[in-house]
Amino acid sequence: MAGIRIHNGEPLVDGVRLAEVAEGFGTPTLVYSRAEIESRISAFQGAFAGLSHLLCYSVKANNILSILSLMANKGTGFDVVSGNELERVLRAGGEAAKVVFSGVGKLAEELDFALKCGVFSINVESVEEFELLEQRAALSGIKAPVSVRVNPDIRVSTHPFIATGEKSTKFGVSFDEAASLLGRAQRSAYLQPFGVACHLGSQIVETEPLEDACARLLTLVDDLLRRGIKLSMLDLGGGFGVRYRDESEFDLKAYAHMIGKQLKQRELTLVTEPGRYLVAGAGVLLTRVIRTKSSQGHHFAVIDAAMNDLIRPSLYQAYHEVGCVQAAPQGTHTGPWEIVGPICETADTLGVGREIPIVKGDLLYIESCGAYVSVLSSNYNARDRVAEVLVEPEGARLIRRRECLNDQLSLETPFLK
Ligand code: LLP
Repeated sequence: MAGIRIHNGEPLVDGVRLAEVAEGFGTPTLVYSRAEIESRISAFQGAFAGLSHLLCYSVKANNILSILSLMANKGTGFDVVSGNELERVLRAGGEAAKVVFSGVGKLAEELDFALKCGVFSINVESVEEFELLEQRAALSGIKAPVSVRVNPDIRVSTHPFIATGEKSTKFGVSFDEAASLLGRAQRSAYLQPFGVACHLGSQIVETEPLEDACARLLTLVDDLLRRGIKLSMLDLGGGFGVRYRDESEFDLKAYAHMIGKQLKQRELTLVTEPGRYLVAGAGVLLTRVIRTKSSQGHHFAVIDAAMNDLIRPSLYQAYHEVGCVQAAPQGTHTGPWEIVGPICETADTLGVGREIPIVKGDLLYIESCGAYVSVLSSNYNARDRVAEVLVEPEGARLIRRRECLNDQLSLETPFLK
């Protein structure tokens, strides 16, 4: 079985002992399971098997080249939001023709790059961006496949920082504006009206809001068709929620079934942009307990990972399960522990009230760290970013080396007076 499994009381990632990974690569280290990512991709692709569907993995969730490369080898497309993400996809062997380019702040040079590469769709989010794209397409002489991201004003239950489908957010345009822009695209010599898109938010576990969005987007598609504008793509975004604690996971099969029914005989390529769903559960953050500290009735386990490595608990009050790598001797204190990092902020708390046996020097692993962990890391407190390791059938191998101080200093020392 793929991913992290407990065997005789010891956690293994695809058969590889985490203690061995710590010995070989040090801590803190992000450890990913290739088999788990591949099986998630297959399950995702399988759910939409009967449809004309392009899975565009959302690169923002994890953009490590070796992860992108394994996606590309499984035939996925990609959802990118910057020229640099597009560059990463290409370097990892991804095909530009399977890339959708989203985001509210695309620059002229990023649009030029996307046009030159021949991406599948450029999803514009404003009248201003639409006009810029038309100009750039005219200058480059490449007809741009333009899709419009609609903001359907649909609420989802998730953390407010990651809800994107309400009209108070910066994303997309109204249905009326989308219709008018696609009409303009139809009349433009430089634009090809290509599709409509939406994305309601992230870590969504109910299917209804997404089905509702699909129905409303299809109404727009049908209205446009009656006006002689035939679109090729319906991009329903990502947002499929996973289980961090006790949430139910997004019911992908039920969703795919409903979307299939809605699409009926329409000649549209369905694009989905899953990020978290494919990678979150495939990664753990392996960390060592530097010391334990008991003070004024509180028990702290100070670990060598911190909020700069894993910001989700501090930023979104996210819950990540913490487990012990080694078996605990009888009588080990079982908390409740506050799992904290070395950073000088109270926000540097990765878990609270955890009832697990911990002593100084222990190895712990923090679960569900495959998505929005590496990409959101920083050098706060001048900490080096962690090593990243991929477990493959041949064993564990480094896919990003641990940073060293010189990596940080080299950007500045040339300018020191
Ligand atoms: N497509 C668009 C246009 C998006 O903005 C996003 C995520 C996705 C797809 C992928 O969503 P997913 O399938 O991964 O839910 N840092 C936050 C999540 C931010 C999501 C931003 N947009 C977190 O750690 O929870």
